[in-house]
Amino acid sequence: MQYNISDNMSDVKGSIIRELFKLAKDPNMIAFGGGNPSPETFPVEEIAEITAKVLKEDPVSVLQYGLSEGYTPLRETMKKHLEKVEGISFENNELLIVSGGQQAADLATKVLVNRGDVILTEDPAFIGCLNTFRSYGAKLVGVPVESDGINVEKLEEALKENENVRFLYTIPSFQNPTGITMSAEKRKKVYELCQKYDVLIFEDNPYGELRFSGESVKPIKALDTDGRVIYSGSFSKVMAPAFRLGFVVFDKELTGRMTVAKQCTDVHSTVLFQHICNEYLTNYDYGGHIAKTREVYRRKCDLMLNEMEKKMHPKVSFNRPEGGLFVMAFLPEGVDSFPFVQEGIKRGVYCVPGVAFSADPSVPSNGFRMNYSTPSDEQIIKGVDILGKLSYEWLEK
Ligand SMILES: Cc1ncc(COP(=O)(O)O)c(C=O)c1O
Repeated sequence: MQYNISDNMSDVKGSIIRELFKLAKDPNMIAFGGGNPSPETFPVEEIAEITAKVLKEDPVSVLQYGLSEGYTPLRETMKKHLEKVEGISFENNELLIVSGGQQAADLATKVLVNRGDVILTEDPAFIGCLNTFRSYGAKLVGVPVESDGINVEKLEEALKENENVRFLYTIPSFQNPTGITMSAEKRKKVYELCQKYDVLIFEDNPYGELRFSGESVKPIKALDTDGRVIYSGSFSKVMAPAFRLGFVVFDKELTGRMTVAKQCTDVHSTVLFQHICNEYLTNYDYGGHIAKTREVYRRKCDLMLNEMEKKMHPKVSFNRPEGGLFVMAFLPEGVDSFPFVQEGIKRGVYCVPGVAFSADPSVPSNGFRMNYSTPSDEQIIKGVDILGKLSYEWLEK
């Protein structure tokens, strides 16, 4: 059979990470390449308890079709939570429950982007959303990320030089893949620049609650007075990724369009898990759970960074994340990280080469992403030791 693949999908390559993910099944492989939350953070007992309760008390509600907009009590809970914790006002904004943060990006692109339109993106950025944008025929234009967030001079150049820019894609807190957090000053500047050039912002914030050091910074959405920012969040990293639940906040004017987009895609998100989330957020110790989760990641991140400081060649640089799940290491400028990562895999440890997160994957990257949330302490120590030895061989050959 000869299949004609659609224009939208023919150029989209599968995620390198999901391919590498298969390597994690090898019990001898040390996995720094994934992005999974640590299983010890899952509130397993509480989920079991709530599931039994809702299935007993109200089975029909949780097994029947639900509203496309989401389970109303969960939407209200999240609005209050975001108002209190993130400073997001709901006077002119609406919130829909979606099937993960990935779907928030999908729906926003479906509603706002035509083939050939430009999406500006932090470079590097999360491959899942970059591929979503590509699947709608968007042209990606990368803007480099610095230690305090996106380079705003380059952002202004990109805003000036490109026509039909639909939105800027940014992950301001504990960015995936770099672990970098955008400063409050830059958030303001980014918002003002997008105002000046009349461009929307898609702010992706799945890690926002996972800060384990430094001062908290409000999201760009908290500055939004003209409906410019579409804000997305996720339950994947604070509850469990298999729930496939997230939320998207946008100006009320877009409610109809976003709801229809959701209906076209999957009708509604899982009702049972929405009930579980709402019950957990309202009647259990969510604050305590987040505090424990942060502590797990603070400890694991410190361990990985301390080992990297001791073991990596001094020419390998890396940032110090204040939250989230990732740190990105950089070989010296001009040294391609891809063969380095491949050699690491041969020696039993895998990371993700920076090129996987590039707006233009034809340009080699010297970075590689390391995840500290899933490997055990022993694996972190052993894996960094392997990479450290490799870095000396690689950079001194
Ligand atoms: C930056 C970023 N955005 C969105 C997502 C999608 O998350 P989910 O669809 O599980 O909510 C991820 C997942 O790793 C991510 O890192």
